[in-house]
Parts: sequence; structure tokens; C-alpha cells
Amino acid sequence: MDKIIVRGGASLHGSVEISGMKNAALPIIYACVLVEDKCVIENVPDVRDVALSLNILRDMGAKITKLSKNTVEIDCTEISCGMSHPELVRKIRASYYLLGSEFGRFGEAKVAYPGGCDFGGRPIDQHIKGFEALGGKVKADCDKVEISSEYGPKGTNIFFDIVTVGATINVMLAAALAEGTTIIENAAREPHIVDLANFLNTCGARISGAGTDVIKIKGVNSLHGCTYAIIPDMIEAGTYMVAAAATGGCVKLTNVIPKHLESVSSKIEETGAIVDEYDDSVVVTGRDVIRKANVKTHPYPGFPTDMQPQMAVLLCLANGVSYVSEGVYEKRFRYVEELKRMGASIKVDGRTAVIEGGKPLHGADVRAVDLRAGVAMIIAALCAEGTTEISDIHLIERGYDDVVGKLREMGADIEKVSYPD
Ligand code: EPZ
Repeated sequence: MDKIIVRGGASLHGSVEISGMKNAALPIIYACVLVEDKCVIENVPDVRDVALSLNILRDMGAKITKLSKNTVEIDCTEISCGMSHPELVRKIRASYYLLGSEFGRFGEAKVAYPGGCDFGGRPIDQHIKGFEALGGKVKADCDKVEISSEYGPKGTNIFFDIVTVGATINVMLAAALAEGTTIIENAAREPHIVDLANFLNTCGARISGAGTDVIKIKGVNSLHGCTYAIIPDMIEAGTYMVAAAATGGCVKLTNVIPKHLESVSSKIEETGAIVDEYDDSVVVTGRDVIRKANVKTHPYPGFPTDMQPQMAVLLCLANGVSYVSEGVYEKRFRYVEELKRMGASIKVDGRTAVIEGGKPLHGADVRAVDLRAGVAMIIAALCAEGTTEISDIHLIERGYDDVVGKLREMGADIEKVSYPD
């Protein structure tokens, strides 16, 4: 079993290069199923969810060639429909993008029901609404989801009942090769939706409006291969920005798009830290006094839910009482129990956590309960008195490329240790 050991007290200094965005790389990897050609994807983060997704495609007949640590060639010319391995598909949520890409390419799909972090119910009713509007006949049970159709997806208009990243992506995938035009209204506006549209358009698709709440997809007959670089990871960047502010350090983050970080930068500045923005970098300078602040998570461009646990740690160190409201998921406070073991004073009431800041944190044995919660524990450990041991770190490695190495470079006293199981 592997653990991360952190001895707290050091403030972070120096610079860190941000990797490609996991949540942009995953839909683009599954979008290659639509392309009967070779695609070279650059700036791919070297993380577990990407490796797993490439294995899923390889098992389906795709030819996968790692050209470097962060560049992969994907050739789905020979891929077969419905051949993904259920036990791999169930390990992550993003595998459900196979539904849209298989339906788009083959006119049918058969995929095990997806996994993903436990944030309460994570229904796929809007995905199904989209596939049915495109003419698909959908059969879904707790085991698998199947889509069938007589002639393949047909262009249509879809108005989502809620803003959903996954369903917006899945309909874009299914509609790219559809007959006719599809218009998605109340679409998600995340930067990785734009990245997917840019990738598909580079392959010859005709998608406009990505990044707004109305996306138009004019179906084309086929897509050709391309070379495409993934955007930087705004959540990885936000994570290290919070770590710099929490430890009272000064860190330059390179390979970022400051525009994507606006809500996070603004919230970090509200707590008293300084954020200087440049073309493709930001510098975060922490201050001795951390001010309380209230956070409400919301789909982009609101404050991202994937930054909620990390921000909660910073607010544990602030003077006064802060309120964190989770606006996207039913429950995303499982990490609070772990933080309380380190001395945090937090009360959870439904979708709101009340954080009484100013209580010193001390080292403890804690768990990563999910990807972002796990990295929040690392930030807490960096600021705690004494030593913290974090287990279940494979969950952190799902989405953070070399988190230990990057933090060590910035002066953290942190190491990964392997223990015999
Ligand atoms: C993606 O999940 C991300 N995962 C999540 O990041 C992220 O938290 C989320 O988007 C929001 O930004 C990946 O990109 C792999 P949603 P997804 O569809 O697609 C409800 C991380 O840490 N909903 O926007 O599942 C759903 O229950 C992960 O990297 C429906 O009700 O997000 C949830 O409450 C965690 N019906 C909310 O919408 C549906 O049909 C957001 O879901 C679909 C969603």
C-alpha cells in the first residue's frame, strides 16, 4: 500500500508547470472513437484515469502508442462497438463518454454503467434525454446502458433541464456525425467543453457556440485524424494556488490560462493573498493573515466544485467563520471527517459546511476519500504542526501528475512511501 507522508511547516516557493487538464483529456480520448484515423494528442497528463481510459480503448481494438510521457497516438480505425471491459469502465465516470462516441460512430452503443466518485446520486437522465432526442432507443439498468437506432443519430434540438458537463459532452459526441444539425440549449460552458469542440473541429467537425449555453453541431459524414494539444488543468492550477496561499508562500504557476482561473483567483484574493496574472502564468503570494470568505460552488464560470475541498482547507486557517455551499453535488463533504482528525472545526448541514477558522491543524493519519479531497488533505498536512500520513493515495493519482515531485520542487517536506500490503 502506498502512502504520502508530509511534515508540515514549510511555505511553498519557486515555480510549478501545470499539466494538461484531466477532464479535457478524457472526453478527447473517447472522442477518438469517432475518428477512423490516427490522432496525436499532446499535453496529456500522466494520471491513472488517462491510463485506464487508454486501456479501455486498447481492449476495444484501438492502437495506442505512447510517443512520450505526455503525448499519445490513438488509432481507432479498427475499434469494435460494445467491446469495452465492464470492470474497467466501472472504475471511472468518464468511460460513459463511450456512449456518445459509440452511438455517434456505429449508431448503437453498449457500455457498463459508469463508476465515479461518491458524491451522492449521479444520475444520467439528461444523457438519456439527449440520446433519445437524437433518435436512440435507450435501455439502462444498474449494470449497463445500451443504445440502438435504425439509422444512427439524427440532428435535433435539446434543452437540458440542468447544466451538466457530462451530458453536454455526450451529446456533442453523438451529434458530430449525425445526419442534420443538433442544437443544445442550457449547455455547460466549461473550458473543457470548448477544448473538446476545438479538437472535433480540428478533425473536421462543424461545432459552434461551445463555451456559451447554446452549442450548434452540424453533423458531417466523417472525421479525419489530427494533432491536438490539451488545455492546461485549471483545477490542478487552482490547487497549487490555494496551497501557496495556505502556506504563506510565493509560487509562480506556468502553462496556465488565467481566464479559466478567474473565479478561483478572485476567491483566493478575497482571503487576502495576492494573485498577479500574466499571459500564460500567475503568481500567488500568501500573506500572514488569512481572511474568512464564503464560497458557493456553481457550474463554470462560477467557483468550481472540484476546488471546494481545497478552498475549505484555506478557510480552516482563516480568522473567523466561513460558509461553503456545494451547489453541484448532493454531498461532497466526506473529507470533513478527515480534516476534523487534524483539528479542524467544521459543521456540515446538508449542502453547507460552516468552518470556524483559526484552529491550528496538527498531523494525523488520514485518508483520501476521493480525488480532490485527497489533495486537500495534502494542503492541510503542509500547514499542520507535525507529520501527517495520507492513505488511499491512488485516488489522488487519478488526476494529479507527479503531485509529490511538484510539491517537493516548491520546498514541501513530502514523500511517497510504499508499505507491503
Ligand atoms: C464532470 O463530472 C467532472 N468529471 C467532475 O470532476 C466535475 O465535478 C463535474 O463535471 C462538474 O464540473 C469528469 O470530467 C470526468 P455533471 P460529471 O454531468 O460529468 C447531476 C473531478 O474531481 N446530473 O456536470 O458527472 C449530477 O448528479 C471530477 O475531476 C444529473 O442530475 O458532472 C451532478 O449532481 C469529480 N443528471 C451534477 O448534475 C444527469 O444526467 C453535475 O454533473 C447528469 C448530471
